[in-house]
Parts: sequence; C-alpha cells; structure tokens
Amino acid sequence: MASDDALAQNQAGNQGNSQEGQRRRWFGRGSAGPAPTQERENDMDLGGTTTEGVVAEAGNAPDDGSPVGAGGPESASVVDPASADAPTEAPLASEPEVGTIPAPPPEALAALRARGGDDAPVELPLVISIANQKGGVGKTTTAVNLGAALAELEYRVLVIDLDPQGNATTGMGISHRNVEGSIYDVIMNDAPIDDCTEPTTVKNLFVVPANIDLAGAEIELVPAFSRELKLRRALAQVAGSYDFTLIDCPPSLGLLTVNGLAASDDVIVPIQCEYYALEGLGQLLRNVALVKSNLNPALDVRGIVLTMYDARTKLAEQVEREVRAHFGSKVYRTVVPRTVRISEAPSFGQPVTVFDSTSRGALAYRELAKEVSRGAARRSG
Ligand SMILES: Nc1ncnc2c1ncn2[C@@H]1O[C@H](COP(=O)(O)OP(=O)(O)O)[C@@H](O)[C@H]1O
Ligand SMILES: [Mg+2]
Repeated sequence: MASDDALAQNQAGNQGNSQEGQRRRWFGRGSAGPAPTQERENDMDLGGTTTEGVVAEAGNAPDDGSPVGAGGPESASVVDPASADAPTEAPLASEPEVGTIPAPPPEALAALRARGGDDAPVELPLVISIANQKGGVGKTTTAVNLGAALAELEYRVLVIDLDPQGNATTGMGISHRNVEGSIYDVIMNDAPIDDCTEPTTVKNLFVVPANIDLAGAEIELVPAFSRELKLRRALAQVAGSYDFTLIDCPPSLGLLTVNGLAASDDVIVPIQCEYYALEGLGQLLRNVALVKSNLNPALDVRGIVLTMYDARTKLAEQVEREVRAHFGSKVYRTVVPRTVRISEAPSFGQPVTVFDSTSRGALAYRELAKEVSRGAARRSG
C-alpha cells in the first residue's frame, strides 16, 4: 500500500532526525524524492540558518545544484531574513508558487469542518492526544513544550510518552535508565500509573516515561483482552489529578495510537509547514472517526497546530494559507516557528520555555497554551 511506504519513509526520516551522521548522508544525496527534501529542510535549520536573526547562506542550495523534489522549489524559496519576524508579509513577487499542496480527501475535510470551530468553553480535566502518523512533524516537541507552558499557567499537567523512542521522556530531563516503571508497565502489566509517574524540573509538570520496551507492546497487545482500552482504564485511576493530560503518540496508526485516541477527549494534530503537510491527514481523520464510533464517542479533533514555520520560505506561507482555507477555525492562530532553540532544548533535557525562556519558540508555545486552555478554571492541585 502506498501509504505504508509513505509511513516507512517518514519513520526512516524521523530516525534520521536524531542522528547527525544520517542527516549528513541525506544531505549529500542529490536524488529527487520526498524524504531527502524533508531532511534537507531540517538541515537548513540545524546548520544554523534559521530565522533567529541568522543570515541565510548560499549553502542551503543542494550540493550539486540539482533540483530536489517537486521542481526544487526550496532552492528558490530562501528570502531575505529581515522578513523573518513578519510571516504574514507578502512574499517576494519573483518567487514561483509551489503548486497546490496535496490535500486530504474531501469527505475527511468535510467531516472535520462540520464540527465547526472551537469556541465553546474549555472544561477540565482534559486528556489530549498529540497525534499524526507522520514522523518528525513536531508531536513530541508540542507535547513537551505545550505541557510546560500549561504548567507555567499553573495547571497540573501529565505528559504520557506513548512513543517507544522515548523522546518526550528524555526531552523532559528523565533518563530511561533511572525510572521505576514506564508506560509499558502501565499498559502491559497493569502497573498503577502513579507508580510510574515522574516529576520533572518544571513545577506542575509530570511525565509517564517510555523506553524501547514499548516497541514490543504494539505486537504484545494484539491478543490482549480489551487491547484498545488499556490506557483509558489506566488513566481512569488518576482522573481529576491533572488538569491536562497530553499523550505523545508514536508515528503510526497502530494499537498504541489507538490506545491514545481511545483514552482522549480531544486530538491536537501538529502539521509541519512543508510540501507534504496534509499527506496522510485523511487517514488520520478516518482513524479518529473509527475510534469515535467504536470506542470513544467523546473524541473530537480540538485543533491543528502549524509547526516549524520558516518565515523565509514562500512554501511555509502557502502551506499556512491552504491549511487555514481547509480547516478554518480548527487551526490555532499561534504558529510555531522553526527555531534552533526549540531543536536544542531536548538535548539539555529542558522544555524551551525553561531552556530559553524569552525565545520566540518559548513565546509561541505560551501563546498556544493560552489558546488551548482559554483560561479554564483549574480542577486539580
Ligand atoms: N519548531 C521547531 N523548530 C526547530 N526544530 C523543531 C521544531 N519542532 C520540532 N523540531 C525538531 O524536529 C525534529 C522532529 O520533531 P518531533 O517533535 O520529535 O517530531 P515527532 O514527535 O512528530 O516525530 C526534532 O529534532 C525536533 O527537535
Ligand atoms: Mg515524537
């Protein structure tokens, strides 16, 4: 199935994100195709050419000058960094349009739009899955930093790391080796969730860690009794102890993600501002609908958050425009910029709100926290 290929590619791409050597290899590859295009975008950032006031450099072009992906739009898309802080400004007229961003099927769009905007009051406690089966779109970054920003607003927040890669765990300063229990023990061994919850250096912010054991759960769950509802039942033990529970879902639509969705009131979908932004979204929305009709009637998509917005590229602006046109008020006003500080923070085991409290990334996640919570009255604490 084509979508499986896409998934495999995304996962490969995701792993590449965490390995410098891998990243360099992708970068050196001049061939056309979606994965290298995406990796090269990341390179632009990690190579120090971000919107944090760093001057764009010619090195952003492919090594051999060959076009990449759909006609190599990125090579023409680096604009004057002076416009970096004004993402709404009109792009330079000379830049070519990228073409229509591939969109999800109309019926999936219609189903989501039909639910309308989200201006109803927020009632706590809330369990929110951060889900998108694409890897590297900012799920973990959003779970950690939105969680930290909500905790700053004095909400009690629990982040559940549901990805075997355990990036949310390490990104919050918890070492896999030093933990008493993990989400694997909660799901597979019925361990009490409280026994597996770790405090973080941020007040009001807690995490249920994950480690590589969790990779086995995807298969071990298959024959298990009520396998889709393991997490939901576990979370019932701590209902009311936290205002927000954020579930960092893995980059797949397997049983772990289904457990996340079945345990949630809402879903937040991070969308990376790149050409394939909307690819796979139809499938995700269909899965949400399936979980809703079979397991969890309360489930809804709360919102879509645009991540890794690079104001120097016309592509990012175009993706934002199209996503807003498709999803209207479902899209948060806050757009998370692509910044080096956000990508550096996890290596210090800190949310960006702590690592660089006044950075643009920290400010964006604080704004997002305000949009998500809308001043709702605290329940816990
Ligand atoms: N706004 C951003 N600016 C710069 N880098 C980012 C940003 N958001 C995420 N990243 C980086 O991109 C990579 C993928 O993000 P991540 O949150 O792990 O995605 P996912 O959980 O969807 O796989 C990580 O290396 C992360 O540090
Ligand atoms: Mg992740």
